[in-house]
Formats: sequence, structure tokens, C-alpha cells
Amino acid sequence: MPQSEEWDIVTGVGLTALGVAAGRALETERPDHLVSDPYAGAFVAAADAPVPVPGRFCDTRRLSAAAADLWTSLAAYLGVRSRFFDQYLMEAALGGIGQVVVAAAGLDVRAFRLEWPPGVELFEIDRATVLDFKDEVLGRCGARPRCGRHPVPADLRADWPTALRNAGFDPDRPAVWLAEGLLPFLPADAERRFFERIGQLSAPGSRLAAEHLEPDVRPVIEDPEYRDATRQLGVDIATLWHFEGKEHPSRLLTAAGWDVRSAPAPEIAAEYGRELPGLMARTAAHSRFLSAER
Ligand SMILES: C[S@@+](CC[C@H](N)C(=O)[O-])C[C@H]1O[C@@H](n2cnc3c(N)ncnc32)[C@H](O)[C@@H]1O
Repeated sequence: MPQSEEWDIVTGVGLTALGVAAGRALETERPDHLVSDPYAGAFVAAADAPVPVPGRFCDTRRLSAAAADLWTSLAAYLGVRSRFFDQYLMEAALGGIGQVVVAAAGLDVRAFRLEWPPGVELFEIDRATVLDFKDEVLGRCGARPRCGRHPVPADLRADWPTALRNAGFDPDRPAVWLAEGLLPFLPADAERRFFERIGQLSAPGSRLAAEHLEPDVRPVIEDPEYRDATRQLGVDIATLWHFEGKEHPSRLLTAAGWDVRSAPAPEIAAEYGRELPGLMARTAAHSRFLSAER
């Protein structure tokens, strides 16, 4: 992903945000859903996606068997991921952390769907094209945030801390950070700088949560069958993810003074009483949820 590359909600990395919203729309329809996202279907309906995306108007019965399997398994994983990070952020907020920073927020609507304690300020960092689309749809839906909400249009490979401060973030107060569905998209240098900058902006008592894919996932995503399947999501994920030259985030964070814990995604899924099915189970087997405190 060269630094200059642009994208919007229906191209490149931006389309992955729409795919994740579609997954949450499917998850929301499950009787045993782990998260309920009232706006996910509206995003899908509003975007002119280049591939059939299930959600509000296209259900999985209109997809090929392979695509239906992919979406169902993606949704099952996303339910687990969203619930885990919902709980982590909410625990931090209930514990008195008043600033929440969602990096690469995409079409995340936690500001609207979670019941935040009074005084929480939530910052959503993503590219302007993605945040503009999101605000337009939420505006049409009449959505009202349940906390102070601050969209921060910025590129996470560039000087995003200035944009964050300009949006009202106070580095002297503790914050809880979230990097969900982000790290594989960042090249090694950008990922290292991303964590360095978080360190510089994190007052004592801050926390952080991140989804991390172990590099041994590479043969899985480079497998032709897997690549063909992900192309049905409109992207060739193997071309968007970076693994070269990366240090393990746990090591980076530990060296920077964070106390890090990490759990495999399938283990968290089992705690929620869910087995991860289908194609996405192959990548989920290499996915870990990190949490860290300072
Ligand atoms: C898979 S989506 C995840 C969105 C969201 N975290 C969620 O789980 O719903 C990836 C998001 O990362 C954002 N992203 C990737 N690289 C970025 C960068 N360099 N700067 C800002 N946003 C970026 C994309 O715009 C997209 O919204």
C-alpha cells in the first residue's frame, strides 16, 4: 500500500470497512448474535459496492455457495471480535478512562450503539472519504451518539497525532486505544511508528487493544483457493496485507513499558460458546487479541 494510495468506501482498503459492516449486519440477524449493529445494513444499502455484499438488500441466499460460506464465516469471526473489543473498551470507560480512540474506525458505530458512562469522548480516526460516507449515512438515519464523538480524518501512516490533538484529544489524560482490523494493512515502518506515537500520547493508566495476525497466516492467505474466495469480497486481501520486516506488537509494546496480554481468537470464541466455521476459521486460527496497560 504505497503512501500516496487513495481509497473510498467501495475501493481497496476502504471496501474492507464495508465488508466488515456487512459481516456485522449478518451477525446482527443471528438469534445468538454477540453484537447488534443497527446501522451496518444501512451502510451496505447506501454504498454502490462492486460485488454483491450481503446486509440489507442482498441476503446470503443470493450468493454463490462459496461466497455464502465466506460471508457466514466472516460474520461469525467478526461477532467474536466486536464483542471482545466492546467489552474491553467498556470496562476501561467504566473504570474511569474518559478518552477512547478508535484507530481505523471504518464504519464502526460504537459511539452510537454502546451505552457509555457520562463524560466519555470517543475519537474515530480514518481516511476522510470513509468518515464522510459514514457521517452521511448516519445523518440520514438520524443517528445520535451516546458519548462525545470526534471524527478525525487522517492517514495513520502520516502525522495523525496532530489531527487527533486538534480534535480535542488530551494526552495528559488516560486513554483507551483500539486497533481492530488495522495492523495487517500497515507496512512495518508505519506500524512501528503507530505504536511509538500511541506511547507518546498515552498518559499513565492508559490501555490498548489490538487484533494481530501472526505471520504464519501467510501461507493461508496466499493459498489460491483462499485468494479466489476473498476476491468475492471485492478485494485480494493477500495484496493488501503487510508482513515483511514487522516486529511482533507484543514485543514492541512490552519494550515500550506496556503490560501485554494476548489470547488466540478461537479461544475467545469458545468462551462465548461459538465455534468459528468455514474459510475464515483458517485465518482466525492465527489471529490474536492483544490488550495492554500502562
Ligand atoms: C477492515 S476495515 C476495519 C474497520 C473497523 N475497525 C471495523 O472493525 O469495523 C480497515 C479500515 O482501516 C482503514 N485504514 C487502513 N489503513 C489506513 C491508514 N493508513 N489511515 C487511515 N485509515 C486506514 C480503512 O480506511 C478501513 O476503514
